[in-house]
Amino acid sequence: EKNGYEHYMLKEIHEQPDALRRVLANRVSTQGVNLDEIGLTAEELKKYSQIQVVACGTAYYSGMVGKYIIEELARIPVKVDVASEFRYSNPIIDKDTLVIVVSQSGETADTLAGLRLAREKGAEVLALTNVVGSTIAREADRVLYLKAGPEIAVASTKAYLTMVSVFYLLAVQFAKIKGTINDDEYMGLVSDLIRLPELASETIKVSEEKAKEKARYFIDYDNSFYIGRNFDYTIALEGALKLKEISYLHAEAYPAGELKHGPLALIEEGIPVVAVVTRRSLYDKMLSNIKEVKARGANITAVAIAGDAEVEKAVDDVIFIPECNEFFSGLLAVIPLQLLAYYTAVGRGFDVDQPRNLAKSVTVE
Ligand code: F6R
Repeated sequence: EKNGYEHYMLKEIHEQPDALRRVLANRVSTQGVNLDEIGLTAEELKKYSQIQVVACGTAYYSGMVGKYIIEELARIPVKVDVASEFRYSNPIIDKDTLVIVVSQSGETADTLAGLRLAREKGAEVLALTNVVGSTIAREADRVLYLKAGPEIAVASTKAYLTMVSVFYLLAVQFAKIKGTINDDEYMGLVSDLIRLPELASETIKVSEEKAKEKARYFIDYDNSFYIGRNFDYTIALEGALKLKEISYLHAEAYPAGELKHGPLALIEEGIPVVAVVTRRSLYDKMLSNIKEVKARGANITAVAIAGDAEVEKAVDDVIFIPECNEFFSGLLAVIPLQLLAYYTAVGRGFDVDQPRNLAKSVTVE
């Protein structure tokens, strides 16, 4: 069933373009975004004064991308909490809050408890889940299925891409309804969304060898840093989590501008640093953060937009991703980070699909 791949994780990474095709099918076309399946009218959507995302792990990181995109495009405040904290808090939510719970398995105990708390408080719950008929799907008011197909490897890959895609759909739809973008901007975003599967496929093609090569360097280092700004920072978080969980190497993700408030003290000769640089608006800031760590001897791998000669000059290695709409490039940037984690874990000889201490579905607290 591994289809010739050595591990499920690698197979699932390669299935990502198809997973994206499925999650976007019938939900976006040249006519625009269509989320009628959740049964919310424009009037109902407009009444939400805030969005609260509740999830764990990788699903939580997908919510962080959602926050940046929804706030930027639709100007609705979005709060994102890990479910194990949210469930024991006294959240300020009410009937005008849309609570979005995100869970690949649909069975994560903390996320389910968060869902129940939100409903007790009178909020509407929209679930993003991959498993049809799962507990979270059954208990939520509305569901958008991720359609990623079965995910077997413990480390989540294709489910994450579909989660982020659904947040994109929601952001674009909300923005249209709220009138925070004009028709041209809307149609521009829509046509870029349609291209995502093809861009993901190209990203795998152009980045796999490079990620594999660079993994050899990571094998020997116990510590690494992943840096980025704005939603590139959330991609850094997800990339660092992948490395930790399967290669058992410590990786710390940091907002690049925060380095000088502490962690810069840890940068020493040779330490691997991964820099995610896809945000045009923050390009110069990132470049100076890269130079900051380079000056202290770090070995930098950048994930950047194809043709970025300036970043290429400033770092040790660069993994290029195809040019695309700035809002969606983060999604592509995660792919080389998944591959880097995968090949590092393989190089260290670990059981990639079944990392120690971890379970695919965390149904106990
Ligand atoms: C990381 C990973 C975990 C899960 C988390 C939530 O690769 O797989 O962090 O994302 O346990 O699981 P779900 O999405 O099933 O609620």
